[in-house]
Amino acid sequence: MQTKILPVNVESVEKAKQIWLDGGLIGMPTETVYGLGAVATNPEAVKKIFEVKGRPSDNPLIAHVHKDYNLDTLVYVEHDYVNNLIKAFMPGPLTLVMKSKGVVCSEAVCGGDTLAVRMPSHVGCQQLLKAVDMPIVAPSANISKHTSPVTAMHVYNDLNGKIPLILDGGKCSGGIESTVLDVTESVPRILRAGLITKEMIESITGECLIAEHKEGDKVKSPGVKYRHYRPKCETALFSEEQIEKAIELYNEYENAGKTPYIMCRTTVSKAFDGKNILDLGETPEQIAYNLYDKLLEGETKAQIIIAISMPSEKGVYMGIMNRLRKSCG
Ligand code: TXA
Ligand code: MG
Repeated sequence: MQTKILPVNVESVEKAKQIWLDGGLIGMPTETVYGLGAVATNPEAVKKIFEVKGRPSDNPLIAHVHKDYNLDTLVYVEHDYVNNLIKAFMPGPLTLVMKSKGVVCSEAVCGGDTLAVRMPSHVGCQQLLKAVDMPIVAPSANISKHTSPVTAMHVYNDLNGKIPLILDGGKCSGGIESTVLDVTESVPRILRAGLITKEMIESITGECLIAEHKEGDKVKSPGVKYRHYRPKCETALFSEEQIEKAIELYNEYENAGKTPYIMCRTTVSKAFDGKNILDLGETPEQIAYNLYDKLLEGETKAQIIIAISMPSEKGVYMGIMNRLRKSCG
C-alpha cells in the first residue's frame, strides 16, 4: 500500500471520509499528537488499528468527536462537575473516561464498560470530524512503544506502507498526549497527566486525585502500565543535581567513539558547554511542544540520549516527567 500525505483541505477531508466509511485508517493531526483514526462503530476497522500498531489488546482507545457532537449519545454524565469540566476544557487536550452507552464497538473499549471521549481543538481535525460526523477512535499514530508523532513525517516514518493516507495539519501545538481523567466517581482522578493540569482541574472541581499504580495492581488506564514513548537509541535519565554524572556518561560514550546527545531545558544546557545538545526550550509549554520532536530527532543522530529531569513535578511538568521516565528512564 502506498501512503499519501496531503494537507488538510476540502478535497483531502472528503478522501479521508471515504476511506473511513470503507473501513480504513487515517493518520490525522490533533493539537496533542497525531492520531491513527478509524470509525468507532466498525469492529473490523478498529481491529486494524491494533494490528497496524502492534498494540496490546487490553489497551482501550479514545473516541474523538467534533465540538458540536452530542456526547449524551455516547456516554452517561454521572456527576454535575463533569458538565463544568466539559464547558471549561472541551474542545482541548482533555479526555474524559465515562460510563459507555455501548454505541462504540466493544473492540475499541476492550470489552470494558467505560469510554474515553475527547474533542480535539485542532482546526483541521475538527474539520475532518465534522465532515464524517461519527465518533473516531484514535490512539497515537506510532508503532506501539515508540515515541508518539507530532508531525505528519513522524507518522510516515512509522506507518509508511501500512495506511493509505496521512493528513498533514502541521506540527502539533501541544506536543504530549491529552490528560486522561476518570470522571465516573464523585471526585475526578487523573489516569494520565497532560496539558490540562491537576491545578486547572481543581480550579473547576475543587478536588482532583491522581491514580497511583503499584506493581501487580489492576490499573484503571491500561496504557500507563507499559514501557512507552521509547526512541530507537539508548537513553539515560539524570536529575538536575546529577549533572556531573551525566557528563561522565557523555564522555564515556564519546571516548568509545560513539555520539551522545544531552536533552535538557535551555538554562541547564549552559552546564554542557560545547557538547551535543537537544534543547527543549525553557517554559513547560515549550518543553512539552519540543519533547517528542527532540526524542525523534535524537534517535536519528545519537547513540545515546542523556536526558536531564525537570525542576519540578507540578503543573505541565507532571505530564512531561511522566513521559521522560517512560521514554528515557
Ligand atoms: O492526545 C491524545 O490523547 C492522543 C490523540 C491522538 O488524541 N491519543 C492517545 O491515545 O494518546 P492512546 O491510545 O495512545 O492513549 C490512550 C490512553 C491510554 O493510556 C489508555 O489506556 C487510556 O487512554 N484509555 C482509553 N480508554 C480508556 C478507558 N475506557 N478507561 C481508562 N483508560 C482509558
Ligand atoms: Mg500512545
